Amino acid sequence: MLSKEQILEILQPLQEPQIGQSLTELGWIRDIMVKEHHVALSMVTLENRPEDATALTDAARNLLAQHGVKDVHVRTRAASEHDRESLNTGQGDNQAQEQDEVLVKGHAAGLDGHELLSPESGVRYIAVASGKGGVGKSTVTVNLAAALARQGKKVGLIDADIYGFSVPDMMGIEEYPVVEDGVIQPVERFGVKVMSMGFFIRENNPVIWRGPMLGRMLRQFFTDVQWGELDYMLLDLPPGTGDVALDVHQMLPQSKEIIVTTPHATAAFVAARAGAMAIQTEHELLGVVENMAYYECGSCGEKDYVFGRGGGGRLAESLHTVLLAQIPLGAPDNHPSEPDFSPSVYKSETPIGAIYDEVARNIESKF
Ligand SMILES: Nc1ncnc2c1ncn2[C@@H]1O[C@H](COP(=O)(O)OP(=O)(O)OP(=O)(O)O)[C@@H](O)[C@H]1O
Ligand SMILES: [Mg+2]
Repeated sequence: MLSKEQILEILQPLQEPQIGQSLTELGWIRDIMVKEHHVALSMVTLENRPEDATALTDAARNLLAQHGVKDVHVRTRAASEHDRESLNTGQGDNQAQEQDEVLVKGHAAGLDGHELLSPESGVRYIAVASGKGGVGKSTVTVNLAAALARQGKKVGLIDADIYGFSVPDMMGIEEYPVVEDGVIQPVERFGVKVMSMGFFIRENNPVIWRGPMLGRMLRQFFTDVQWGELDYMLLDLPPGTGDVALDVHQMLPQSKEIIVTTPHATAAFVAARAGAMAIQTEHELLGVVENMAYYECGSCGEKDYVFGRGGGGRLAESLHTVLLAQIPLGAPDNHPSEPDFSPSVYKSETPIGAIYDEVARNIESKF
């Protein structure tokens, strides 16, 4: 199996058609992925002209074939502003190249992904945030997504918790997305199209990328994924007000936001920071979801406010927004033997499922 460096060396003769300089030297051969006799890579050219793309692709195939590579997937794209700038300053874009060489490979899937990000796309974005971990952000995101899909909406879900992805497991997703020519097909579950870093990490190895890479990853979830038509796109944010949350704020200024908290006073206090950040970045708040609000006794129906009471309501008030729902404690009662098993999605006919249906209906009227 060839290494990335060997491939770059083999492709050294390929020249950028207008600049006349080696693509390898320009740092314009990117996203190299090698799997046995299969190589995928992308090439950047000043303008992505079809005739150049064909010629370069053929040339790359020929060069690599001489080294036993049978199957070569080449994606081409036009140089970004950043690529052009580094050209002017005479610096190869090695850092970007290194950062691109992560598991999700690809290029911008045409205009599709960029259109998706633009405020004119018509897609309603909902980012789900919290100040603290473990309050149920992901649970709320997957259930709201499923509830919206039950109402006939076309729903996408991005697990933007790049380090701490959990959505595939929570939804009981066992398949992987299909990647073809750098375009990723999201996995569909309960009518929701899902994209998560979890699909690209093997054996649960921890993700150790630095900040800028996370931003790239997230952007690729928009640009390299064939989402098709969407009414809603939900984003499960990582806890707190870190890099990714900021990236989302910057990338999607049009996104609205839901803050999840538990009734506990400190949780609500910390959640207020996430709320304050949303307000500062001018993300409109849709409201607060108070999760784990109480435990309802199955036999007597009495509510026990195990984590305290009123945190969600107070938080909503302090953020000048509304309390969208109080969701009680309780696991979804479905079983691993069922085909639609998932550890975290409550069915519509259960009390908690019905609450999510109600939230989904309420949210409709807020756009
Ligand atoms: N209403 C609930 N009743 C019982 N368990 C719940 C409830 N909501 C969430 N949980 C459980 O609490 C744990 C944390 O929930 P979840 O992963 O959704 O939180 P999170 O805020 O996304 O966490 P993280 O910050 O780690 O991303 C999970 O095990 C989840 O199944
Ligand atoms: Mg989570």
